Amino acid sequence: MTQVFAPRRLDWTAVTREVSPSLGRCELTHLERAPIAVGLARAQHAGYEALLESLGCRLIRLPADPDLPDSVFVEDTAVVLDEVAVIARPGAASRRPETAAVAGALAPFRPLLRLEDPATLDGGDVLVLGRTLYVGLSSRTSAAAADQLGRLLSPYGYAVVPVSVAGCLHLKSAVTRAGEDLLLLNPAWVDPSAFPGRRTLEVDPAEPFAANVLAIGGQVVSPDSFPRTRRRLEAAGVRVRPVDMTELQKAEGAVTCCSLVFRARGA
Ligand code: GLY
Repeated sequence: MTQVFAPRRLDWTAVTREVSPSLGRCELTHLERAPIAVGLARAQHAGYEALLESLGCRLIRLPADPDLPDSVFVEDTAVVLDEVAVIARPGAASRRPETAAVAGALAPFRPLLRLEDPATLDGGDVLVLGRTLYVGLSSRTSAAAADQLGRLLSPYGYAVVPVSVAGCLHLKSAVTRAGEDLLLLNPAWVDPSAFPGRRTLEVDPAEPFAANVLAIGGQVVSPDSFPRTRRRLEAAGVRVRPVDMTELQKAEGAVTCCSLVFRARGA
């Protein structure tokens, strides 16, 4: 019998950027430097991109830049909402030139706003839940950035809520959305009471880095190095799509960092 497959719906656009040959010289804040196999990192990144495509993302792949070691982590360069995109001003000076290529990729899809000096903000510190943006106050993201973001976005009906984080790089190292009404978090790095009224699930304590998952269309992408937390997610009814990320994890990267996913429209 002939099987008929429904055409894959491309509900989402995902901006990604190829792994830089200089990834081994990336910024590190909470990890010791370990050798990174760039060829393997590229293969793992390609697997991640293929998974995004299988979840209904149309990819916009930006080329690698040998002078920008961290540029694969595109999430930190912008915050993309339905109405507008805000170009970030990353906290690490080495990462600020990353924003130009990403702004160029986003311009056909959204009007662009920009954070300005002295604010510093990494997109990894911004958790969007409906009309609320939780902004992690981290070594990369300043209170001035939370203020600026609030002023830029209040005309669009968004509220900004600053959140303390400790012990990890970004707010989204500590907490991410694992479903329409479920947050996955590590209570050692962020206080669950910062998200009143939200259902929360804690990572397995043996897997502190597992709180970073990427929710797309009712499924979540999660590194396959966190099987215990995967079991917790599945017990909560979440469908997990594992991906091998070991080399990008050595660069203090995670699954949300490697893409900017937004609802397809425009262009
Ligand atoms: N290596 C990721 C970052 O520090 O921004």
